Amino acid sequence: MSNATESETRVDPAVLAEEFAARFGEPPAAVVRAPGRVNLIGEHTDYNDGFVLPMAIDRAAWIAVRPGKGTRVSVHSLDFGEAADFDLAALEHGGPEWAEYLKAVARALEQSGAELRGWEGVAAGDVPIGAGLSSSAALELATARAFATVSNLEWAPKKMALLCQQAENEWVGVKCGIMDQMISAVGERDHAVLLDCRTLETRAVPLPPDTVVVILDTATRRGLVGSAYNERRRQCELAAEHFSVPALRDVTSAELAQSGVGLDPVTLRRARHVVTENERTLAAADAMARGDAPTLGRLMDESHESLRADFEVSSPELDRMVGIARAQPGCLGARMTGAGFGGCAVALVRANGADAFTREVADAYERATGLPPRIYATRATAGASVL
Ligand code: GLA
Repeated sequence: MSNATESETRVDPAVLAEEFAARFGEPPAAVVRAPGRVNLIGEHTDYNDGFVLPMAIDRAAWIAVRPGKGTRVSVHSLDFGEAADFDLAALEHGGPEWAEYLKAVARALEQSGAELRGWEGVAAGDVPIGAGLSSSAALELATARAFATVSNLEWAPKKMALLCQQAENEWVGVKCGIMDQMISAVGERDHAVLLDCRTLETRAVPLPPDTVVVILDTATRRGLVGSAYNERRRQCELAAEHFSVPALRDVTSAELAQSGVGLDPVTLRRARHVVTENERTLAAADAMARGDAPTLGRLMDESHESLRADFEVSSPELDRMVGIARAQPGCLGARMTGAGFGGCAVALVRANGADAFTREVADAYERATGLPPRIYATRATAGASVL
């Protein structure tokens, strides 16, 4: 059928460096990368001060750079086939949309007191855009890493993640939580990272042996996600107020069962998702620590059900994809991943059946929906780095 399971164009850092040399007449001073992510479990919990369990993936935003003379930043994007140019001394909105992320990060770094130097660069990425794999956070962290490299800033991953989140909240205007920026900064090879979104403590947990994490892109893109996302945030805040706690993180299932009665049914379901998802995420990290793949898979299944029925952020295509994935032999669990309403699901699959799984799911999904899915087996990689 389709070529859905073939790998698409990937960024080769050597080719990126050659492109840089062709444009600027010398090799770059550095090549930086920052990965996208897939979240294994812990969805819509980060802005409730809760727990998430994402991993950085083998797809990233890359920038080849050399320091500039003054305060100008000039970047050519290979993906968009255009250049953006701005002055650090006079940052303003306007120009290509992708460059807003660069300016956003520059502004946040400046506000933190960093003295920034301008630079010239060539950028490229292979995190699919708008698919829920955090291409924006990857570009933000790569930008931060580029600035840190040319301006000799100390690279403190968690601090940089917080600044990039601030950049997205304030300059781009998206009220995201901390998960995406944090995992792009602190990712670890072959591990997922349990992140406590209140304390920002992290614990790396190994991916279960003999399993593969497979990303299942439904080929639908989330519409209206911004307004629905903000609405979910408000509902969670309302629920926390009802329980007189700072965030839903502070509510247990037992408390929810006892004192949830006064809540309207919709808010109660939203709260139930967050409270149970936090419990599942902690249980999932423990299961991974013991190498217990079946338990991790079961918790992923339960997470999807909760996101579908209680938090209501799934979509017919995501439900279809998850259903098809689970019906395959060798699938241990599957769920939607990211904000929802479209984009990707993620499955945990036994390694020895992964090729057949990928083929079967791609064919069955395309037959069922007429949409060409993209299916990627992925690996857990390190966070933002300089090559
Ligand atoms: C988006 C946001 C994250 C997180 C997820 C849902 O990816 O950027 O902060 O809230 O949605 O888990």
